[in-house]
Amino acid sequence: MEHPTLYVTRLLPQPVLDAIPRQYRMLTEPTDLPSTEETLRRGFAAAQAVICTLTDRIDASVLSHATKLKIIANYAVGYNNIDLPAAAQRGIIVTNTPDVLTDATADLTWALLLALPRRVLEGDAWARTGRWPGWTPTQMLGADVSGKTLGIIGMGRIGQAVAQRAVGFRMPVIYAGRHSISSPPGVSWTRRPLDDVLAESDFVSLHVPLTEATRHLIDRRRLALMKPTAFLINTSRGPVIDEAALMSALETKTIAGAGLDVYEHEPVVPVRFVSLPNVILLPHLGSATLETRVRMGLICLDNIAAVLEGRPALNQVN
Ligand code: DGY
Repeated sequence: MEHPTLYVTRLLPQPVLDAIPRQYRMLTEPTDLPSTEETLRRGFAAAQAVICTLTDRIDASVLSHATKLKIIANYAVGYNNIDLPAAAQRGIIVTNTPDVLTDATADLTWALLLALPRRVLEGDAWARTGRWPGWTPTQMLGADVSGKTLGIIGMGRIGQAVAQRAVGFRMPVIYAGRHSISSPPGVSWTRRPLDDVLAESDFVSLHVPLTEATRHLIDRRRLALMKPTAFLINTSRGPVIDEAALMSALETKTIAGAGLDVYEHEPVVPVRFVSLPNVILLPHLGSATLETRVRMGLICLDNIAAVLEGRPALNQVN
């Protein structure tokens, strides 16, 4: 293989950079700054392989410069940032990083699911003030988790991993999804229409990919179906929720609270959310563990090696 050029759009964890084969020519030293359209264009014009991230918008205009490019390895399981038909038209393979971030994202979903009804962040903030007067029977009462109904919207890998974790909490699980998914031994879940899942769940967790069909899937009408005591968790993609409708639902207490890891217009976190005590806001941390982010990078490199060596990609999505 002659020395192919690799363009990495963003700084990746060091073990991933260390694993880049020596025979690849790195186009630039990756930095932690977001790419501009201009830098993306230059990178895509020069490289045979690209590792990009979910914050890079790879549209038809960027792809029009990619005359030598064979593979885009997206450093994420979601690939809504890439114009797949435009890539396919140019014969460019696009890959993602499934499986390796399932547990990390499911774990973070549960962190929100537990912290929200038990008011963990509010409690921590109060304890740090030095003004906590001591235990009282009526202080900071939250809501039970164990035994409540968990509703999963989107029963792919991450949705299933979240559902499996509910066993220890004795939570009945209902889900809405395109396909019927059989549950593993010792776990039970029931498929229901989306509106029923929203109406019957105490916790609703979103795990659909962002597509034209799922954009604003959770809109004003669907939020109104939820119980006033229910919590909504989103670790999928921000635009799956109509954020303006969610802000109103939270302000008017149509629902009890929300745990958000993703936003409609990242990195903008709307100020109306910031002032609400019944919301937990995280900065898109779903896959953010060192182990996971290293595994994601290694998958990108495996896919690149396969394509550059003329083998099928391991995780092609287009
Ligand atoms: C993904 O891989 O799509 C995640 O959102 C990254 O954290």
